Amino acid sequence: MLLRARMAAMRLSTVVAPLLALLSCAAAADVERGRALLAQYQCGSCHAIPGVPASRGTVAQPLGAWSQRSYIAGHVPNRVELLARWIVAPQALVPGTTMPAMGVSPADAQAMAAYLFSLE
Ligand code: HEC
Repeated sequence: MLLRARMAAMRLSTVVAPLLALLSCAAAADVERGRALLAQYQCGSCHAIPGVPASRGTVAQPLGAWSQRSYIAGHVPNRVELLARWIVAPQALVPGTTMPAMGVSPADAQAMAAYLFSLE
């Protein structure tokens, strides 16, 4: 009985471990894609963003150590899904904000948010 449970657990781990590896691989790919997108959308013309080429803008807040922040734009709780929404449509979250909507798709915003949250 105990043996059978152990065997089942072992079988489960042979399925779950590669799945977890695959998931963390997908997350890492998102982070890398996000870094490239931040450069492509030229977020760095206004923001300094560590690790993103040509991101030395001083118009808006630097985005370094993003994962340590409590709020987005001083108002919105800093969670990855809210950050993605902010990147798509800042005015929808903070009416009157001066951050422009940059025409970013939700999928691209998700990847950018993943990159920003990788900054410690
Ligand atoms: C034209 C300048 C400009 C560009 C380009 C720009 N932003 Fe911003 N961004 C701002 C301003 C201004 C604020 C401050 C808004 C506020 O506090 O209400 C801001 C705020 C932010 C914040 C919150 C910062 C904080 O400290 O809370 C994030 C995150 C952010 N922008 C991400 C991006 C991303 C990602 C892009 C590219 C898709 C981008 N921004 C492009 C001007 C810009």
